Amino acid sequence: MEVTRIGVVGLGAMGAGIAQVAVEAGFAVVGREVTDELGETAAARIGHFLTRKVEKGQRTQDERDAAVARLETTTDLAALADCDLVIEAIVEELDPKRALFAALERTCRADAVLATNTSALSVTEIAAATSSPGRIVGMHFFNPAPLMPLVEVVRAELSSDDAVETAVAVVAQFGKVAVPCHDTPGFVVNRVLIPLLNDCVRVLDEARVTPEALDAAMTNGAGWPMGPCTLVDLVGIDVHVHASEALYEKLREPRMAPPPRLVAMRNAGLLGRKSGRGFYAY
Ligand SMILES: NC(=O)c1ccc[n+]([C@@H]2O[C@H](COP(=O)([O-])OP(=O)(O)OC[C@H]3O[C@@H](n4cnc5c(N)ncnc54)[C@H](O)[C@@H]3O)[C@@H](O)[C@H]2O)c1
Repeated sequence: MEVTRIGVVGLGAMGAGIAQVAVEAGFAVVGREVTDELGETAAARIGHFLTRKVEKGQRTQDERDAAVARLETTTDLAALADCDLVIEAIVEELDPKRALFAALERTCRADAVLATNTSALSVTEIAAATSSPGRIVGMHFFNPAPLMPLVEVVRAELSSDDAVETAVAVVAQFGKVAVPCHDTPGFVVNRVLIPLLNDCVRVLDEARVTPEALDAAMTNGAGWPMGPCTLVDLVGIDVHVHASEALYEKLREPRMAPPPRLVAMRNAGLLGRKSGRGFYAY
C-alpha cells in the first residue's frame, strides 16, 4: 500500500525521533500525545534538531521549514483516521498498548497498517487485542531514531505479507535499513546484545578488570566501535536491566538475567549518562 500520511502515537524519546525521521523523509505526520503541552514540547524539540542541521549545513532553511510544517500534533485519536500507517511508541506495558490498538482499529481506515515500536513485548499479543491482526506488525527503531539506521520489521503470527511489505517499503523511504524478522523475544539485535552485555559485566568481576580496561579490551581486541561499559551507560542502566528482566522472564536462560552488579547500580540511581554517573562519571 502507498503511504503518504503517518500517525505516531506517543512523542517521547522514540516517538519524537520517529516523527522527525518521517517529516524529513517527506511524509505528512500526525503525532498524538496525552496533553497539548507534551505534543508542543516534542514539536519544539524536533524543530530544534532540524535547526541544528541547518546550522551544520546538512539542510537548507527551506527544507527545515517544510519538514516542520509537515508535522501536526494532537491529543485526539480521531485525527489519525486518515493515516495510511500508524506507529505506536507509548509506554512499554502490554495493557495500555492493547487498549490503544483496539482504539486504533476503531479509528483508522480498514486498510491502514498499524505498527508497534515495542522492544520486548510480543507483537502477536498486542495484535490479538484487535479483530484485524493481519495489519499489525512491529517496527522496532533504535535509539536515537534519527541517527540509528536499523529498523527491525517484526512479523507477528497473523501479520499479512502486505503489512510487512508496506513497513519495509516505508523504512527504505526513511533512508534506513529494514531487517524483517519473526516475533520472538528480543527480535534480532537485543536477543544477541543483551546477554552479551550481561556477560561483559560479569567478566568485570570474574577477571577483576576495571570498566576502562574491559572497554579497551573489547574495542582493541574485538573491534567494537564502543566498549560495553560505555554502551550500557549510553543505553541507560535502568533500560538495560528492564530489557534483561523481560528477556529472562520469557526465555529463562541464565545469561539473560541482569547481573546483580547492574541491578544494584540501577537501585542506587546510577543509571549511566542520563543520571551523570554509571560505570563512568559524566
Ligand atoms: N528508549 C529506547 O531506547 C527504546 C528503543 C526502542 C524501542 N523503544 C520502545 O519505544 C516505546 C516508547 O519508548 P520511549 O523510550 O520513547 O518512552 P517515553 O516514556 O520517552 O515516551 C512515551 C510517550 O508516550 C506518551 N503516551 C503514553 N500513553 C499514550 C497514549 N495513549 N497516547 C499518546 N501518547 C501516550 C507519554 O506521554 C510519553 O511522552 C516503548 O515501547 C519502548 O520499549 C524504546
